[in-house]
Amino acid sequence: MARSPWRRSDSAALLLAVAALWLPPVRGQDASAKADVAVSALPSLKEIYRDAFQVGVALGGRLPDGLSERERDVLRREFSTVTPENCLKMGHVARSRGRWDFAEADQFVEFAEANRLSIVGHCLLWAKDERTPHWFFRDGEALLGRDALRERLRDYISRVVGRYRGKIAAWDVVNEALSDDPKEALRPSSWVSILGEDAIADAFTFAHEADPDALLILNDYNIENPAKRERLLALLGRLKAKNVPIHGVGIQGHWEIDHVPYAEIKDTIAALRAMGVKVLITELDLDMIPRSKWWADGGKHHAELSKLNPYPKGLPDDLLKLQADRYGELFRLFKANADVIDRVTFWNLHDGQSWLNDFPWRRVNHPLLFDRQGKPKPAFWSVAGAGE
Ligand code: GLA
Repeated sequence: MARSPWRRSDSAALLLAVAALWLPPVRGQDASAKADVAVSALPSLKEIYRDAFQVGVALGGRLPDGLSERERDVLRREFSTVTPENCLKMGHVARSRGRWDFAEADQFVEFAEANRLSIVGHCLLWAKDERTPHWFFRDGEALLGRDALRERLRDYISRVVGRYRGKIAAWDVVNEALSDDPKEALRPSSWVSILGEDAIADAFTFAHEADPDALLILNDYNIENPAKRERLLALLGRLKAKNVPIHGVGIQGHWEIDHVPYAEIKDTIAALRAMGVKVLITELDLDMIPRSKWWADGGKHHAELSKLNPYPKGLPDDLLKLQADRYGELFRLFKANADVIDRVTFWNLHDGQSWLNDFPWRRVNHPLLFDRQGKPKPAFWSVAGAGE
């Protein structure tokens, strides 16, 4: 592959030129000159952060056809690692008993390899019943016992991890296992009621058996929150005492524009460093139409929120600027902790692909660095600038 002609001195000059184009913010300028810079002339995030951490992105849909040419160009220029959004989840690979579906995952892996992108497998055990196929816990309608579920899990993991051994560099082995309820360590599920905490230990052990070279990750959300962090650290302590092969912890990073908990993120990173595990930011985005109220007050705001769609045509300039500032500050924090952070992955390439357009209600959202046309937003320049 030809080496990029991009140099750091070029990048500083371009950043200045571009900053001049969008400061002070003028309404509507997002779509103008700076956004129209050719992809080949954009600063490359993976190069800028090369000495700090990998910069990655999650991709949905079928590859390569699911991506436009421009999206492919952005992908190749900016990112060094990819995570499949859905096609390696158990609900996709093993939707029904005895029926394996690796077609999309095989294509994903082939595409990533052809483009020299490293791959993060996501995810082996998603610790929620609604995210685990109904059949997995059962024989007919009867719930499996401990040994049978362990065997089924071992078979599943050895099949999936083994298939991509040497091709998938890291795995989110267990996803969202911690409870949101301070009174309990683990989220209640059939995993926990049948296997208890061994479900987690087993998943890591089986993954390690299937690919001893893969980086194995425990992935979860809100673990910057001090109370959830305590439960995470306690769990890690217990698992490490049993020599369970956990190599990293994934902080999902689905934050909201009105509250990015920098100090808490920093404290969680420090605590994980002290535990001797790597840190990965695995699913980064910034919800521009914050969603927390959806779950407040017993759901009484649902009707009102369902109609809330304030930015159908794009974000106003003050919010673009705020988003740029928030992302810039996050990347300065990540860079300051680059000794322990291995990777920062965005959850999708551009705004049009984000789950936050549909969850928890339908709205036109703008959580990422690129807009729906794949053009860089102020947040992109801010992230690039934070790495210089
Ligand atoms: C969680 C999961 C991801 C994805 C996102 C939303 O964070 O880990 O796989 O489903 O929710 O899309």
